[in-house]
Amino acid sequence: MVNASKPHPHPPTPPSPAGPPPTTRQAVDTFTGFFRERGHRPVPGASLVRPPGDPVLFTTSGMHPLTPYLEGRPHPLGRRLVGVQRCLRTTDLEEVGDLTHLTVFEMLGSWSLGDYGTRQSLRWGHELLVGGFGIEPGRLHATVFGGDDQLGPDTESLAAWHELGVPVEFTREDNWWSNGPTGPCGPDSEIFVWTGDVPPHGTPGSDDRWVEVWNHVMMRYHRSEDGSLRPLPQRGVDTGMGLERLVMVLQGRRSVFDIDLFEPWMRTLPELWRLDGPQSRLVADHLRSAAVVIGDGVLPASNGRGYVLRRLVRRVLTTLWRDDPARTLGDLPESLVAGTLDHFGQQCPPAAVREVLLDEECRFAGMLDRGRRLLARPRFSGPLDEEDYHYLHDTHGLPRELIDLLRPEPVARG
Ligand code: ALA
Repeated sequence: MVNASKPHPHPPTPPSPAGPPPTTRQAVDTFTGFFRERGHRPVPGASLVRPPGDPVLFTTSGMHPLTPYLEGRPHPLGRRLVGVQRCLRTTDLEEVGDLTHLTVFEMLGSWSLGDYGTRQSLRWGHELLVGGFGIEPGRLHATVFGGDDQLGPDTESLAAWHELGVPVEFTREDNWWSNGPTGPCGPDSEIFVWTGDVPPHGTPGSDDRWVEVWNHVMMRYHRSEDGSLRPLPQRGVDTGMGLERLVMVLQGRRSVFDIDLFEPWMRTLPELWRLDGPQSRLVADHLRSAAVVIGDGVLPASNGRGYVLRRLVRRVLTTLWRDDPARTLGDLPESLVAGTLDHFGQQCPPAAVREVLLDEECRFAGMLDRGRRLLARPRFSGPLDEEDYHYLHDTHGLPRELIDLLRPEPVARG
């Protein structure tokens, strides 16, 4: 049942010659090339939209489309896979605008489906970061699952890092990974890179200049509805590395928005709409994410995936209109959308994305107008209570966040 790590007969990757840091494209090629040389077959990235029957709206991690194979179903391409997967996470929506959060991002992944184990995965991870990407070994730190009331500490990962001379910090919750309340899961080991200007010190838990770049999950268990864990029929490894975060570190940037991938957006938007840093980052992230979501066939709606898209577009419009209500998505250069769709290999014509965005802008503008007229009625001149909110929502379709946007001052009564 258990596959011990079999060292692969392969010469170590030589350190990359000092030179300009890699572009995003080169980083992808280095990653996939490294694993292809070690017998991994490339799996094409899947759509953000999950097929019917998947309880999750969007693909949230590189392993997501591979779930049945990590649980034991044989994969047609074999037991070693590598890929790049676009993902969407909305848990961090409120944080977008800061330096590192993205709604749509790409994850570089490598997978062992019942093939090699923990030690091999971590050794290759170290080899690629140091030899392939040229990161100094002294700038690496790892975290490892320290055990909980059900399971002991992950001694295999600990031993692998000791062999490699990488310092380790133990945690509990932060080193257990699952893609949801049920399904495959296991202890993980995260690799951090020191980004400070002074020599590395402290630990990832105590100094946020340690930036997490790569997670190696030892997929060993399946969690059932009742919360119990049972061992999977095969042990696998699922690794995921946020591409934009990795490139940020390699290019020595403080923000993911400063890497080459975002250059066209960040060059154009602040000038076009005179936006400050956080506004530019939010608008660039949400418009780019909206383009990709529309490119995968989603339309704005009042629930499900369409609602996520609607929220993205409306958050952009709210930001743009706060300073100048005359701004319009009609001014967004089509080349930005075209470049993004092209990057993700999406066939949707850029003009179709633009049409969806403008349609949503028109709908939102109409709703704001109606809302303003309604809220000008004497009944709503004072603070609103829950009944008012219900009435405005149920009878006039005005969501609470919109009401609060139109009436920023009054606070609800009791
Ligand atoms: N599936 C793991 C993650 O997303 C690698 O972090």
